[in-house]
Amino acid sequence: MWDYSEKVLDHYRNPRNVGKIDNADLIGEAGSLACGDSLKLYLKLDGEKIVDAKFQTFGCGSAVASSSILTEMIIGKTLDEAKKITNKDIADELGGLPQEKMHCSVMGHEALEDALKKYYGKEIEEDLPPQTADKIVCTCFNVTENQIWEAIKVNNLRTVEEVTNYTKAGGACGRCKGTIQDIIDTYYKSENKKEEAPLTATQKILKISKVIEQQISPELQKDGGDIEFIDLEGNKVKVRLTGMCQGCKNSRMTIKTFVESILKDKVDKNLEVEQV
Ligand code: FES
Repeated sequence: MWDYSEKVLDHYRNPRNVGKIDNADLIGEAGSLACGDSLKLYLKLDGEKIVDAKFQTFGCGSAVASSSILTEMIIGKTLDEAKKITNKDIADELGGLPQEKMHCSVMGHEALEDALKKYYGKEIEEDLPPQTADKIVCTCFNVTENQIWEAIKVNNLRTVEEVTNYTKAGGACGRCKGTIQDIIDTYYKSENKKEEAPLTATQKILKISKVIEQQISPELQKDGGDIEFIDLEGNKVKVRLTGMCQGCKNSRMTIKTFVESILKDKVDKNLEVEQV
């Protein structure tokens, strides 16, 4: 028997936003009845904002719960914000899913991605495997190479068994298991290469700006503060604290440690932060 969170059980017993939107602006589909579960997601837009979302699914309780929570997560969001949602976010929002049921969160993400592709076109397909044409790897469950690659990337999957839990690929005849292992190997080889290549100064500056803007600044803004990236000298990142952070002497060290640890983690472990 699976161990489900209270939230999964609640969304399974009382699913939100079930049904169809007759004049939907975007429709996304994932899975197929032949493979055991499927999901159709309807989105209604006002400009770039999702004002309504409904779903129809054929699947287990986790599929219902994942689809239900997904509609709640995207209503009120812009398409750009919705584009950033991963299957991991869906599972986290449910308070977790059993490993063997993670493929339900993947199905939710795929339906959302399918809907958004109709709006953004190919632009959404970034950081995919080296080859250009997507191909079916698991014929039993109709799972493609790109879907497996995406699941590995978002969830840090390391084994064929984990890939099966998240995508179903490999869960029937098992003929595709060798290819799944090859995809895992290729993915981590390319990741290692990325890590080995040192960043140029310009690349470092761009990356620092991006991390500050997208990850650090929003956190400080929650408490009425903010941060400005001034310059990079060697490995010294010069920043200026603004708003509430500016005069808050007690928290300066904490903020410095916070900013430094994120920059070390996301950009370069040798970086040091200096307030100017
Ligand atoms: S081809 Fe993947 S399980 Fe059969």
